[in-house]
Order: sequence, then C-alpha cells, then structure tokens
Amino acid sequence: MLVYLNGDWIPADSAHVSVFDRGFIFGDSVYEVIPVYGHRRLREAAHLARLKASMTAVGMDERLRPVHWPTVCARLAETLPSGDGTLYLQVTRGAAPRQHAFPANAPLTLFAYARPRVSEPTGSAACEVTAVLCDDIRWARCDIKTTSLIANVLLVQEALSRGADEALLVRDDRVNEGAVSNVFAMCGDRLRTAPRSHLILGGITRDVVLELAAGLGIAVEERAPSRTELSGAREVFITSSSREVAAVTHIDGRPVGDGGVQGPVFRRLHSAFQTFKEEVRMGRRM
Ligand code: PDD
Repeated sequence: MLVYLNGDWIPADSAHVSVFDRGFIFGDSVYEVIPVYGHRRLREAAHLARLKASMTAVGMDERLRPVHWPTVCARLAETLPSGDGTLYLQVTRGAAPRQHAFPANAPLTLFAYARPRVSEPTGSAACEVTAVLCDDIRWARCDIKTTSLIANVLLVQEALSRGADEALLVRDDRVNEGAVSNVFAMCGDRLRTAPRSHLILGGITRDVVLELAAGLGIAVEERAPSRTELSGAREVFITSSSREVAAVTHIDGRPVGDGGVQGPVFRRLHSAFQTFKEEVRMGRRM
C-alpha cells in the first residue's frame, strides 16, 4: 500500500515520522476521514473545509507545507480496489525539540492513506448499534477534529467493556453526540440533534442527513435531548463517515422505543442515504 507523506508516495512499511513529531509528543495534530464510494469522495470540499477550519483553530499555518489535497485524495481514492473505502488525512505541527510553544517555521507533517471498506454491510443488523450513556469527559473544543483522542478512546473502551458499540456523551444533562458519531433522537414528532457548537464535531454525515430529512419533510429541531428525553425517544440513531447511518437499538441495555427495532423515521433516512451514496457513486451528487 502506498501512502502519502510530506509530498512523497511511499510504501506504508517504509514511511517514517520523527520521534520528535509534535503529533506523537503532544497530540498536536488534526485529521479528517473522507468516505469514498466508487472512487468518488463524498462531500470532499466540506471535509477539506473542516480540515482547514481545524488547522486555523489550532493556529497551524498551511504555508509551512503547502499541499493540494484534492489531487492527493483523487490519487488515494483510485487505489481502493473495490472503489469503496475511506481516506485518512492528518496534519501535525511538525518535528521540533520538545517545548510546548509553537516551533518557529517547522514544516508541518502531512500524512494520508486510503483504507478499503470492509465488505459492504448486509442484513438489518449491519446498520444497528447498541450504546451506553457516559459522562462527556472531553475538553471544550470538540468542534476541532484533533487526533488528541484519548478521551474518545477511553469512552469507546468503556462502551465495549459494558457490552455496547458506542458511548453517547452527556454534558450538563444534554446528550450532545457520541464518542465517534453524531446522535439523532425522535422526541415526540420532532427529530432532535445537538446544534453545531464547540460541544460537538459538526459531522459531514450529520449535514447530509439533515438535508435528506428536509427533503423528506421530517421536522427537525437542532437542540440536544436531555437524558430523560433520550430515554423517552421513539427512535435514536447515529451518523458518521465510517458507520454511515446506524439505528441505536439499546441504550444501557434497555430497548429504544418500540422494542428496540428500527423505527420508521430511521428507515426512511437510511434508505435515502443509500440512494444518496449510489448517486455519489455514479457521480451525480457529491
Ligand atoms: N469520526 N463526532 C465525533 C466525535 C466523531 O469522531 C465523528 C466521526 C463524528 C461524525 O463526523 P462525520 O460524519 O464527519 O464522520 C462526530 C470519524 C469517522 C473517526 O474519527 O474515525
């Protein structure tokens, strides 16, 4: 497998980064995950805009290692054998003697590779997950897509140790998002999801689902559900570039809504998302 590193295309085994890289030492680094269908990138422009926003938010100067990401992404997407997968892009503040302050003029480290999608999920269980509620122990800039993911790592591990797939994160009694996904809940006749703020990562899949919901005439309210509202929700689902749109069937071991089966709003949105993916694959939509 060829990976992109600082302007070169090299086999993954021989791609090396300095032990003094600030991504390694401080987690001083941001990233993106871009889904690919039929070699075409889903919402590439939005993903690259978010990468730029993350870099700006942490004061990374792109002139310290210029790159034309669309060219890199196109070449990576071409390498995917089935045409489907995800692209991973990472930018660190580069290698420099260890001190917290930004180094003067260290070139950024740029890394990217393509990961094939592990066979297209089939059957209804493929788009279902279970979840547990956890205190949101992350920092207050969750809108920055940084690789400093220790809190998310611990939260996912806690979910797994409690027999679930995803952790739904509660801060000030609001369920804002998941450890690796955004969260939607049908509360009464409205689809609720947290508004964009520094408390969530503004998911690109979330944006697509909001557009699809608008097209289907589903009433949406961008307000994070409380713990009580979530436990009374008729349907709950999550969205992300890797999981796409997945129904949450159980929370803390209790079935969601009507017996923990996929609800009608989820099924409509899931089906609309499959159509959207096909259109991306055909080059009719981005
Ligand atoms: N994570 N919120 C968090 C905390 C996430 O980590 C992610 C995705 C999302 C959904 O964003 P998007 O729809 O743009 O993928 C929300 C990626 C997939 C990851 O870290 O692998």
